[in-house]
This record gives sequence, structure tokens and C-alpha cells, in this order.
Amino acid sequence: MKVLVVGSGGREHAVVRKLAQSAGVDKIYCAPGNGGISVQAQPVAVKATDIEGMVAFAKQEGIDFAVVTPDDPLVLGMADAMEAAGIPAFGPSKAAAQIEGSKVFAKGLMKRYGIPTAAYEVFDDPKDAVSYLERTGRFPAVIKADGLALGKGVVIAQDLAQAKEAIHSIMEDKIFGQSGNQIVVEEFLTGKEVSVLAFTDSHVVVPMVSSMDHKRAYDDDQGPNTGGMGTIAPSPYYTPEIAERCMKEIFQPTIEAMNKEGRPFRGCLYFGLILTQEGPKVIEYNCRFGDPETQVVLPLLESDLLGIMRAVREERLGETEIRWADGAAACVILASGGYPKKYQTGFPISGLDEKGEHPGVIVYHAGTKREGDTFLTAGGRVLGVTGLGKDLPEALEKAYRAVGQITFEKAHYRTDIGKK
Ligand code: AMP
Ligand code: GLY
Repeated sequence: MKVLVVGSGGREHAVVRKLAQSAGVDKIYCAPGNGGISVQAQPVAVKATDIEGMVAFAKQEGIDFAVVTPDDPLVLGMADAMEAAGIPAFGPSKAAAQIEGSKVFAKGLMKRYGIPTAAYEVFDDPKDAVSYLERTGRFPAVIKADGLALGKGVVIAQDLAQAKEAIHSIMEDKIFGQSGNQIVVEEFLTGKEVSVLAFTDSHVVVPMVSSMDHKRAYDDDQGPNTGGMGTIAPSPYYTPEIAERCMKEIFQPTIEAMNKEGRPFRGCLYFGLILTQEGPKVIEYNCRFGDPETQVVLPLLESDLLGIMRAVREERLGETEIRWADGAAACVILASGGYPKKYQTGFPISGLDEKGEHPGVIVYHAGTKREGDTFLTAGGRVLGVTGLGKDLPEALEKAYRAVGQITFEKAHYRTDIGKK
């Protein structure tokens, strides 16, 4: 089969590398892909959000199966467009992708179906939002733009001044465009955060190995939020008892709620959870694999990924065996100095072989360009270095040993992934 993967980050590299192990896969394309991905998949010069261009390419090339990985093409309806053109696709429909595309929709869904989440209010007028916060005086308060915002649409305001600034920039300056037409203001929750990605065909939901992201740029959770600076799997906080509770109170109810709303979800559903004193609650849903969660979850998958993806699409997940390796995985992100703000690119990366790999670890390329046998930096997050081990300390040791041997000018990484 010819398989097309849409996207260009470390997550897509992890999907491509796992698909390359699938029995039925002859050739993989990645649109647009990156330097490191081009070792396993033929790059395609079509932007991930170009629905028409992507479908045209898939038809012309005779693609047998498309995997739509990032949020924006899913929310724009790329999976539907592929299916309409007769190309089987993995990824939720546009209607189902609203679970990530609109926080107002996601919060309403949880409220209507009794799924545990932070208490909240929705506002479409900044003045109302400000007077609400003045009245309640409850801080920190969490302010969220309704729509997609490149992972930057959440502000934790410590006081009224910060809240006013966030509301102003989201709703009036429109720093995220139309995504800021409405905001959600919600209660601040405390507890350990866990990411659970799950395969679902709208009937059964099969959670993958749990994981934990590290979102802040610097050690000790300091500095600005990023797309994620490192991950570990499984999360030591996600016990079998909590997993059982999540299945009963969150995962299954969410799938049923989406069916009742006429938006059956088929794909990878990402549950961003927080383990509070009152029990697990949903912080966010994503309609896709997480990045960099995928870089620790998929290496532990022992079953055939293409087989699972086809079973999801054909609603046969219940009869599909999904096996996971014992042990643990840890991923450390090497980022460009200055990320998530301003940074320079184009620096040669040392410590990688001609295939972009390094002994003893899996190197996922997030933002690289290939020039002959060299790889150059080409993005904010550059590489995700994943170590595998019998336990978390061994996985971390392997990842950090390699990270010490791979470098480029102004490289930055966190030294405390998995320490907590
Ligand atoms: P998101 O962009 O939705 O992943 O949110 C970014 C981060 O903001 C999350 O990973 C949490 O650390 C934090 N966050 C979001 N909502 C809440 C909440 N209600 N209470 C506490 N922290 C939150
Ligand atoms: N790592 C968080 C996300 O993919 O949204």
C-alpha cells in the first residue's frame, strides 16, 4: 500500500517510522515532511492545510490510505475530503474534530453529559468577562481562546491585571484571529497532569500507554509554555485504579456523547487530564496524536499501526489486538535557542549519522532540513531524542546520554524531564 502522512513534526516522524514497520506498507509519503522524515518517507511539497492540493496529490499518486495527523487540517475537514474523493483516511471528520477546534463546544459537551472538568463560563464580550472576574475575584483564573491557537491559547492569569491583558489581546487585538471571538474562563485546577491518547472507532475506546508532557521552556517548569519540551511514558501517577475510573467517567462517556451529538469520533482522541483531589478531570481534548507524546507512546506499540488505523476507520477496533511493550520511554526535545519566542535556524547538527540517527536512541526529527549527508536546524523544536528502557531511569539515562552527544549552535533542552 501507498500511505500518505500529513504533517511535518516529530509526531509525524514517529507515525512514519512506526508505519514503516507495518507489513502492508510499500511506500510512505509525507506532506510536507522534513529533512529527517525524508529518510523514511518521500517528501511532498503540499502544505498540511491545503485540502484541495492534498486530495489532488493523493488521487494523482494513487494513495491507498491517508493519515491526517495535525489539528488544523482535521478541523478544516481534510479527512472528510479524502474520503469523499475515495481515499480511505485515518482521522476524525470535521464535525468530530470540533472537540478540539472549539473549546466552547468541548466544555458544553462535558457539561451536557456530566464528564468531569473545571467549572467555567463562556464570554463573547470582553467587558462581560472582565466584570465577571472582578465580581468573583477568584485567581488564578484560566482564560482560553475558543478556537485553535497553535497551542498558545491558554493563559493562567494570577491576578485581574493579567486577566485583563489576556482578554484584551485575545478578544480585541485578536492575536489568534477568529479563534478569539469567544473565550472560556475556567476554574484553576491543581494536580498531576497526564496525557492519555486513545484509539477509538466510535464504539470502543482503547487507551494507549499513558504519558506526561513538560510544557514549560525551562527546568523546574519555569518560562513560557511551549508545544512540549519532553515526555515520558508511562506516567507513574496513572495507576490502574485511576485508569479504570477514567474509562468509566471520562473515556467511554465522551465517545457516547459524541455519538449522541451526531459526531461519531473515529481516530486518535487525546485526553489531557489532571488528577485532582476529587478525581481525574479533563483539561482539554485534542482530536489527534499529541506532540511530543507520540514520540514516547508509539515506540512502545508492538502491534501493526496501519492495521489498527484501518480497523478504526472500518469500525472493527473491538476485534483488533493491540499490544504494548513493557518498560518505559523518555523523549527529550532539543530546541533552537530562544524557542518558543524568536530563534535562528540553519545551523548544522553534529552527532547524527547520514540517516539522521544516533546509536542507542530513536531520533525523531521535528524541524530539520537535509543537505547532502548533513542535517540543519529548521524549526523551534528541532529533534526529539527518545530512549527506551526496562524502566524510566534507564530510558532517561539513554536519552540524556545521547542528548549530550548531539548538538548545534544555541541548542537548548531541559535537564529535568521525568525527574518529578
Ligand atoms: P492547553 O493548551 O489546553 O494544553 O493548556 C495548556 C496548559 O495550561 C495545560 O497543560 C495545563 O498545564 C494548563 N491548564 C489548562 N487548563 C487548566 C486548568 N483549568 N487548571 C489548571 N491548569 C490548566
Ligand atoms: N503536547 C501537547 C499537545 O500535543 O497538544
